[in-house]
Amino acid sequence: MSLSRRNFVKLAAGMSAISVLAKSGVTKAKRGEPSLPVIVCSRGEKWGRKVNRAGWKILQKGGNVMDAVEKAANIVELDPRDDSVGYGGLPNEEGVVQLDSSCMYGPTHNCGAVACLEGIKTPSSVARLVMERTDHMLIVGLGAQRFARAHGFLVQELLTEKARIEWLKWKENLSKDDDWFSPKDGVYRDRQGRKYGTINVLAVDRGGNLAGVTTTSGLSFKIPGRVGDSPIIGAGLYVDNEVGAAGATGRGEEVIRSCGSFYVVALMRAGKNPTQACLDACRRIVEINKRAGTRITFSDKFIAVNKKGEVGCAAILGTKKDPPMVSVMTSKGLKAIAGEYLYDREGKNRD
Ligand code: GLY
Repeated sequence: MSLSRRNFVKLAAGMSAISVLAKSGVTKAKRGEPSLPVIVCSRGEKWGRKVNRAGWKILQKGGNVMDAVEKAANIVELDPRDDSVGYGGLPNEEGVVQLDSSCMYGPTHNCGAVACLEGIKTPSSVARLVMERTDHMLIVGLGAQRFARAHGFLVQELLTEKARIEWLKWKENLSKDDDWFSPKDGVYRDRQGRKYGTINVLAVDRGGNLAGVTTTSGLSFKIPGRVGDSPIIGAGLYVDNEVGAAGATGRGEEVIRSCGSFYVVALMRAGKNPTQACLDACRRIVEINKRAGTRITFSDKFIAVNKKGEVGCAAILGTKKDPPMVSVMTSKGLKAIAGEYLYDREGKNRD
């Protein structure tokens, strides 16, 4: 049974609506109080189970919340099957993988980030070292790589064969008029879609302390040196130990100019629940674009958790079959929660 939007909002407002994603789609709503500790990530069940489990092992033993989100983020960074984060991420327009990541620790309100980092599989761990072992907050490019090497990280090739082939296809199909031919010489195909995949991991420990990580290879085939929202504190990630935490995925340029994650946390501070706050941040991006006369052909998604462990998620675009997802692990196990969205992918306004 799928929920009607009205019912879903009503339940979500009570912080108890959980739509469990079964293989066939969103099938069920379950009531349940938020519980601590909790770890959440911006993926559905498949990745959510692997990623959250790594952090959960630390949280359930009463370990440090920052360790939990870092170890969880490392799972997807180190896995070459994911083409939007860490090792195996799609490269920039020159075929070089450049990674962005940030982290933030609630109890100290400290943060760290790296951008355009090449050759290091786990940028979130380097971001954490920027936070803990320097007086800086963001280190980029070669400086970030040198900093990582100083801390014993290996510089390795991050471009997998699969990602190289994706890049080459994109390159060979950019134009009929350049010198790059696809295998069927000269046959021009439609451009491959470009991706903004990213992962956010947020957690609250038993004592209500929060931490978060956002990590990505950024927009595929980007201009070398392009930095998205993920390493920008307040854009791709924000944590406030008094209130909650939020993270963003999707078109980073929009999240930067709306200070998206900061805005979500500010709305929670003002009393909105996590789902309402995420939805309002999506609305703000749409309004900014409407004012500029830009058609919404992209999506952004926010996930959020408040200090009590209540979780929310919303995106600009979605469909009934493929809604924005957040997966949540507590002592009760893993739940994949379907979030709200403003427009279905065909452009119909649901708001
Ligand atoms: N949200 C990821 C990026 O735009 O780089």
